[in-house]
Amino acid sequence: MNRHKKKTDSVRIGEISDGHVEVDGVRLKLSHPYEAPGQWIGQQEILMQLLACWITVDESDLPLTPRLTGPPGVGKTQLAIAAAQAQQRPLFIYQCTADTRPEDLLITPVLSQGGSISYHASPLVTAMLVGGVCVLDEGNRMNEKSWASLAPLLDGRRYVESIVAGITIPAAPDFRSAVTMNQDESTFEIPDYIMSRLQPTLAVGFPTKQDEMAILQYHLPFAKAEMLAMTVEFLQHSHELKLDFSPRDGINLLRFALKRMMQDPTHPVSADEAWQEALEKCLGEDAVDLESLAQRRRRTLGGDAVPLGLADLFFDVDDPMHPDREDDEEDEEF
Ligand SMILES: Nc1ncnc2c1ncn2[C@@H]1O[C@H](COP(=O)(O)OP(=O)(O)OP(=O)(O)O)[C@@H](O)[C@H]1O
Ligand SMILES: [Mg+2]
Repeated sequence: MNRHKKKTDSVRIGEISDGHVEVDGVRLKLSHPYEAPGQWIGQQEILMQLLACWITVDESDLPLTPRLTGPPGVGKTQLAIAAAQAQQRPLFIYQCTADTRPEDLLITPVLSQGGSISYHASPLVTAMLVGGVCVLDEGNRMNEKSWASLAPLLDGRRYVESIVAGITIPAAPDFRSAVTMNQDESTFEIPDYIMSRLQPTLAVGFPTKQDEMAILQYHLPFAKAEMLAMTVEFLQHSHELKLDFSPRDGINLLRFALKRMMQDPTHPVSADEAWQEALEKCLGEDAVDLESLAQRRRRTLGGDAVPLGLADLFFDVDDPMHPDREDDEEDEEF
């Protein structure tokens, strides 16, 4: 570790002025921090776990870069934003995509008006230089080559090397980071040597009924209690059935329903009608009948570890002729 430290000991970093900083004689234009409010409601334990990752218990200790996982729209990005704000450090968010190249993550050369090249530091490099927090959002959309350029940053070495600018950039002692990961098909498998540097894994779960109500109220303070209650009931039911409808889905559906109710004061749409319509339009027709959706989902995923019996080869799970059908409590109402 000491040998690596020496590599960046000799790097000369100038004062930050006018949004620029000089690193080994190369002038870098810094990115702007993210400044929207980011309150985290409920699930205090996971917020504390994330903040603990960023503590250093001794001068020789290093902060951790955790990965935040969970279904889409559950609040991973929001949690990271809230943690950065709790620390009162400037926050920089890098949106990772499948097209992200290693240099995009670090320094991009830009041709300026006079024909000269100026170097723009990415949100990540800016956070490293100013001692802020960088959230690599949706990290597993990025390919292995881009991740490889971050390997030295994520271990004890804490630096990156920009080939384009020809410089090595050390992270300031206050630099902290976290990565959010999405669970969908359009993501890459992150190699193990990177995964082992992104520890621990903090899984963001769906909120409790009370917290979900507070989240919706916080984002839509103008929504009527009745509309909020309908949405919370729906979301909680979908969480029970292990479906992936999230607080984000609830927020979108409510927004649309409220707009529909406001639209024509001469023919007001009832709250129920607007809500049902928004449910179908925002979350799809399948969302109207959660029980059947859950059942179909279980079947395509191979079931909740329900072993296939001989009868399953001949009958659909919801076929009335299925001999095991009575055992399925979701079918009781048929
Ligand atoms: N605990 C919470 N407190 C406040 N707002 C929340 C909370 N959980 C979710 N939200 C809100 O729900 C919406 C979705 O959250 P967010 O964008 O953080 O989800 P995500 O898990 O990052 O989704 P994706 O996987 O699509 O990136 C946001 O508007 C966010 O503000
Ligand atoms: Mg996100």
